[in-house]
Amino acid sequence: MTRTVYVNGDYLPEEDAKVSIFDRGFLMADGVYEVTSVLGGKLIDFDGHAVRLERSLSELDMVNPTNKEELLEIHRELVSRNGIDEGLVYLQITRGAPGDRDFVFPDPETTAPTIVLFTQNKPGLADSPAAKKGMKVISIEDIRWGRRDIKTVQLLYPSMGKMMAKKAGADDAWMIEDGFVTEGTSNNAYIVKDNRIITRALSNDILHGITRAAVLRFAREAQMEVEERSFTIEEARAADEAFITSASSFVMPVVEIDGTVIGDGVPGKVAPRLREIYLDESRKVAI
Ligand code: PDD
Repeated sequence: MTRTVYVNGDYLPEEDAKVSIFDRGFLMADGVYEVTSVLGGKLIDFDGHAVRLERSLSELDMVNPTNKEELLEIHRELVSRNGIDEGLVYLQITRGAPGDRDFVFPDPETTAPTIVLFTQNKPGLADSPAAKKGMKVISIEDIRWGRRDIKTVQLLYPSMGKMMAKKAGADDAWMIEDGFVTEGTSNNAYIVKDNRIITRALSNDILHGITRAAVLRFAREAQMEVEERSFTIEEARAADEAFITSASSFVMPVVEIDGTVIGDGVPGKVAPRLREIYLDESRKVAI
């Protein structure tokens, strides 16, 4: 089945979808994105992703070519047309194609933003074998720019981080700045010590994860203790448990950091429980 994608108002077979070579997303990484997961054919945390998209656009003085209702309709239409039961919807908005290359932002009156959405079919996303086994991470220096709270498409360094991890026989990398862990290449990072869940506080240093917000809310509702503060990689290596959260991995245990086994080297109690709560509760309110 050919995938149907969405480009600037049209639903098209993927091979017919086109964007200009002058698009600022292509030339300058001048664009923002969102990834929303789909479980049981329904969207998880859609509202949170829509609100963060609005914020990313406004922080970059970019015009939003849609609104929440229209976005929801496009997401649902793509999920339905592509028969997605479990998977992801990728959305990208760029500052558009002014017809030439120039560092100066084009006038939004004459250059419309580009909006693209497509689905990724991922059967078995919720019942992932990786979640039962846990993942291995390495630590790398965080050399990204200073506005990581904006979800831009500048993903070269995170891609390089994943490649460094792969080369080292690991699954992902946690990034470190001034001695403290910021986040994973495409996820938020957590440790558990004495039943306390510890994760870096929100600032411009990290992406304000939509899954993070939901997981911390569920953890507090379940009377688990949450501490929002920075931690070092040494503290992480000595933790009882470690895990990550993101829209594509939900809650995923980490069982090895820089070759040091965490806890017993298998997922502990807290991360799998949070994964279960997150999946159960999110499914209930999926739209
Ligand atoms: N990544 N931190 C970074 C740097 C991310 O790229 C992501 C998401 C997160 C988690 O955010 P959320 O819970 O809202 O997905 C944290 C997406 C999944 C991606 O790039 O594919």
